[in-house]
Amino acid sequence: MFAGIAGRYDLLNHLLSGNTDKRWRRLVAEELRPSLVEGARVLDVACGTGDLSLALSGAGRAQVLGVDFCRPMLEVARGKANGEARRVPFVEGDALRLPFADGVFDVATIAFGLRNLSSVEEGLRELRRVLKPGGRVAVLEFSSPVLPGFRALFRFYFTRVLPRIGGLVSGSRGAYEYLPDSVSKFPDQKRLAELMRETGFAQVGYRNLTGGIAALHTGTRSLQT
Ligand SMILES: C[S@@+](CC[C@H](N)C(=O)[O-])C[C@H]1O[C@@H](n2cnc3c(N)ncnc32)[C@H](O)[C@@H]1O
Repeated sequence: MFAGIAGRYDLLNHLLSGNTDKRWRRLVAEELRPSLVEGARVLDVACGTGDLSLALSGAGRAQVLGVDFCRPMLEVARGKANGEARRVPFVEGDALRLPFADGVFDVATIAFGLRNLSSVEEGLRELRRVLKPGGRVAVLEFSSPVLPGFRALFRFYFTRVLPRIGGLVSGSRGAYEYLPDSVSKFPDQKRLAELMRETGFAQVGYRNLTGGIAALHTGTRSLQT
């Protein structure tokens, strides 16, 4: 599905969100900035076209690596990384079987990727596995709008308007019908925080973005497990 829309993915993200997606990714980089120090290793999982990877690289001095299993998305990411001051490698790999040893990264991120995995828990466990004990995780994902009136309005836009525009611009209406469908099945803010604790993360917290349309969950790999 992502291979089919790779060429229009960025344009549609910015168009359909009125550029809010850029702000959300910048907030992730801001939140993680204290960890993005010289010598730190950062893994951006399901990196897609690399916007979060590049934001993280630009926000500090850490070595950022992006991983995704969709080659056309990675090709777009590599094109954007050309000419960046710091090299950001983009490699092919499955988020459920990351091609990295245990405990090697200081930070692991996943933006709008966890929802697409066949198992959210397995995805979280795999993020935890590659983190050093005490390493930080950040999950940026669509969530559940918190205000009832706003929720109804957003739901109308997300299920009725967005698939039409997405379908027209990308040529793949299915991909943009899948989006609201997958979000409706994804755990809400509180449940995702619980799942993070259950899969071995400590100091788990979240903040709602744009009234809960998205949420940024953060945590650290427990020192004990
Ligand atoms: C909605 S895009 C998000 C891309 C990017 N993180 C962003 O913020 O725009 C979801 C990405 O997850 C990737 N993906 C889905 N399942 C995956 C898996 N099992 N392993 C690796 N990547 C996966 C897709 O290829 C796609 O690039």
